[in-house]
Amino acid sequence: MEHVLEVRGLVHRYGHHTALAGVDLIVKSGECVALLGPNGAGKTTLVRNVIGLIEGNADLIEVAGGNPRRAETRRRLGVVQQAVGFPRSLTVGEIVGGAAARRGCPPEAASQAIAEMGLAGLEKRRAARLSGGQQQRLQLAMGLVADPVLLVLDEPTEGLDVEARRRFWNTIRRRLDNGAGVLITTHLVDEAAAVADRVVVIDRGRVVAEGTPDELRRTLPDRRISVQTTVPVSVIRAFDSVETVELRDGRTVIATTDSEQVVRTLLDLDPEANDLTVATASLEEVLVAMTHHEEVLI
Ligand SMILES: Nc1ncnc2c1ncn2[C@@H]1O[C@H](COP(=O)(O)OP(=O)(O)OP(=O)(O)O)[C@@H](O)[C@H]1O
Ligand SMILES: [Mg+2]
Repeated sequence: MEHVLEVRGLVHRYGHHTALAGVDLIVKSGECVALLGPNGAGKTTLVRNVIGLIEGNADLIEVAGGNPRRAETRRRLGVVQQAVGFPRSLTVGEIVGGAAARRGCPPEAASQAIAEMGLAGLEKRRAARLSGGQQQRLQLAMGLVADPVLLVLDEPTEGLDVEARRRFWNTIRRRLDNGAGVLITTHLVDEAAAVADRVVVIDRGRVVAEGTPDELRRTLPDRRISVQTTVPVSVIRAFDSVETVELRDGRTVIATTDSEQVVRTLLDLDPEANDLTVATASLEEVLVAMTHHEEVLI
């Protein structure tokens, strides 16, 4: 598959603060890469380098086959930035229409993007009069107006309601099917995991883990057992490898590093135990375990 983004050895400093300490990243055509990590990890800094807004030091940074600092390269990108405003006195139609025109797209592309993000009927409304979630939809419509080779989306789901998120993820799937590469950051970790082919976890300016969502989930040995049983919580708590036990809506929920052993012991004590499920950790739990720091942020 063709690389639509290749970053090698990217270092970015803000004064004395090193926000990125040598990051490598590849996105292929038709691939969705989710860039995940805690606040301040360096995600936006990386994204802003990729879209050519800021420039750190890199051995290589090639986007859609070109240098992101060049206008012709940027025209091949679809971008949704975190916390960026638009001319508030212009209307939805003017803003998306302008974005389409700048990409050399026909006006129908603008109406299509507006409809795709559920803004049809609001074309004449000024951006300043939109609700927070509607403004975010407008950002998405602008970013998705052309058929970009690479979509770079920084927190695109922020403030979106359930319906808008569903539309958004469907749009992303469609763009991937058409061969676009997608680089996305979001704190909706498990939602991203449902769509992403690969997850890159970044923490304190470094890539600390990388793999498919399933590969990353398997790095956390914890399993959750949920069961209906008469065995008291205090008894289960004493089993080897049990980390936590609690009663939730009449069910016993157990976190353990050895689910097979716990299930066996439990069934020995209560052969009538039923409605048993064993689940792996969610990606969100994996992420918290990987990037949790004790010290206070300064
Ligand atoms: N313009 C700037 N000047 C100085 N420091 C900055 C600047 N922008 C970001 N930083 C610092 O660089 C680090 C990385 O910030 P960045 O915005 O890339 O994080 P992020 O991963 O996008 O976080 P979030 O999840 O909160 O969006 C943070 O410590 C931040 O305080
Ligand atoms: Mg950010």
